[in-house]
Amino acid sequence: MSDKIVLTGIKPTGTLHLGNYVGALKPLVEMSKSNTTFMFIADLHALNFMRDAAALRRHTYEIAAILVALGLDLKNAVLFRQSDIVQVPQLSNMLMNVTPKGLMNRAHSYKAAMDKNAAAGLDTDAGVNMGLYTYPVLMAADILLYNADIVPVGADQKQHVEFARDIAGYFNNIYGETFKMPEPVIGADTGIIPGLDGRKMSKSYDNIIPLFAPSAELKKKIMRIITDSKLPEEPKDPDTSTIFQLYKHFATAQEVAAFRDKFVAGGMGYGTAKTILFEKIDSALAAPRAEYERLMANTDLLDKILVDGAARARAVAEQTYARAHRAMLG
Ligand code: TRP
Repeated sequence: MSDKIVLTGIKPTGTLHLGNYVGALKPLVEMSKSNTTFMFIADLHALNFMRDAAALRRHTYEIAAILVALGLDLKNAVLFRQSDIVQVPQLSNMLMNVTPKGLMNRAHSYKAAMDKNAAAGLDTDAGVNMGLYTYPVLMAADILLYNADIVPVGADQKQHVEFARDIAGYFNNIYGETFKMPEPVIGADTGIIPGLDGRKMSKSYDNIIPLFAPSAELKKKIMRIITDSKLPEEPKDPDTSTIFQLYKHFATAQEVAAFRDKFVAGGMGYGTAKTILFEKIDSALAAPRAEYERLMANTDLLDKILVDGAARARAVAEQTYARAHRAMLG
């Protein structure tokens, strides 16, 4: 058991896919076995663009169910809903006062929104609300409240964690040592997980394979993976094949080596390779998928898990918030 505190948030915005599983969920579940891990569903962070409360609630349950079904260790892991901790918006509001506006101007996500507007000939701030603009401050509150040492995130979130460090630094400079400095940890190098069309698997490319799709849907998706036009007898390149690149993450080292040999030797058509891939993923995910379905049919249980998690998170958040409050207001 390491004494490092791990923390991360997942936004409840839609279907999680195999790319999320390999790149983020699986390593997080592993990490929860040996570290205190605060893991929350970042529903407040979704509010700047999600306006459908029922969908938000459903996606929140989905993420909780996925994590539990994948074996998140609920002794070490504190799983909760961000919005259940009132100290998050409270601290965020306090931190606004030590956060330079210029820092927010430099945020990648805000700059991307401005660039998109400029390209469309619109006012650069068109459609930008304060939730989007101050997103990094809310995220700093999340991170600093629970005294996180390590924040595992995707590369796209690294800047936000660096901002949390900056904001903690400004605060500590003015008010004295109050917050611990978090470290971003960019996911272990799982490489790019390709989607159906060979590009990175991403909702925005519409090329995803949902994590817990029922068998029939999983099969249909896998059969749609785009390949080159090599004939069955021809040797094939496993390193550029989406089929092989996905297989790698679900099979043992021995199975992977054997599958690689079949690609290189020739004699295996892509249809056969897809069937092998389907069977591998389907069996690897069968047990957690059944557990996921059981949990989704029992949201009372999920609520109980989330309420328990919130109580544990709140105990820490209250202390940190009290420290900040005392420092600022005496
Ligand atoms: N912004 C993160 C994302 O979009 C989610 C998130 C919210 C988060 N708060 C966090 C991640 C705190 C790490 C730590 O993916």
